[in-house]
Amino acid sequence: MQSEEGKRIPRHVSIIMDGNGRWAQEKGLERVQGHLRGVQSVRDSLKECADNGVEYLSLYAFSTENWGRSKEEVGYIMQLIFKSILNELDNFMANGVRFVVLGNRASLPDILNEAIDKAMEMSANNKRITMILFISYSGKWDILQAAKQLASKALKSVDPKAYIEGLKEEDFSSLLVTAGIPDPDLIIRTSGEQRLSNYLLWQGAYSEFYFTKVLWPDFDRACMKEALEEYARRDRRYGKVK
Ligand code: IPE
Ligand code: IPE
Ligand code: MG
Repeated sequence: MQSEEGKRIPRHVSIIMDGNGRWAQEKGLERVQGHLRGVQSVRDSLKECADNGVEYLSLYAFSTENWGRSKEEVGYIMQLIFKSILNELDNFMANGVRFVVLGNRASLPDILNEAIDKAMEMSANNKRITMILFISYSGKWDILQAAKQLASKALKSVDPKAYIEGLKEEDFSSLLVTAGIPDPDLIIRTSGEQRLSNYLLWQGAYSEFYFTKVLWPDFDRACMKEALEEYARRDRRYGKVK
């Protein structure tokens, strides 16, 4: 996709928001203060992406593995997500933001699921940008739940052998929780770590990666702008020769 000035704009930007704990520790604060400050970075990134014509901004907010953190930290994050959804809903409606949550919804507290349903229903027809929060998500979990659905479809089909042989990549993609959402063009990870941490394993097959040392709570609009500019300079070849 090209912007009005002819700049190449990613259709889908995805962020592994990392470094909240270290940001807080550097300031002598509790780890959770970093999560709290991280909400501002979400707002900033959303604004910068929407203003630049990005269609999808997705954010890795809580991984399957993050359930292994202390009860206090997990509880704080769940509550912060709950409060932020309620706080931001007016902003989503005023700015054309469609809000979507993907992940293992069954593992989330009921009260959070209710807030998510409300925000998703209310914002369903907003058209400017789609913001996706991945909560209780992991790439392997997603692939496994899709594989289970496929196996069950095969069992039920009249000719299981023919069904299995005829399976295409699109059949698999359509059972991932991201069905209908374009694969991320750009995956950003903050805080200097250079790994996927079980994020979009299938969907990120051809994503461009952008790693920055900036900790998530310090990632402001200028940082997002820089990432978009870097993306515009990338040469995506998809295995071909240009
Ligand atoms: C990212 O920041 C937020 C979540 C994973 C929920 P961290 O909490 O991982 O911060 P660091 O990596 O310990 O600094
Ligand atoms: C990845 O960050 C998960 C999220 C940003 C939600 P982590 O901090 O949990 O990842 P690791 O432990 O450094 O791999
Ligand atoms: Mg981390």
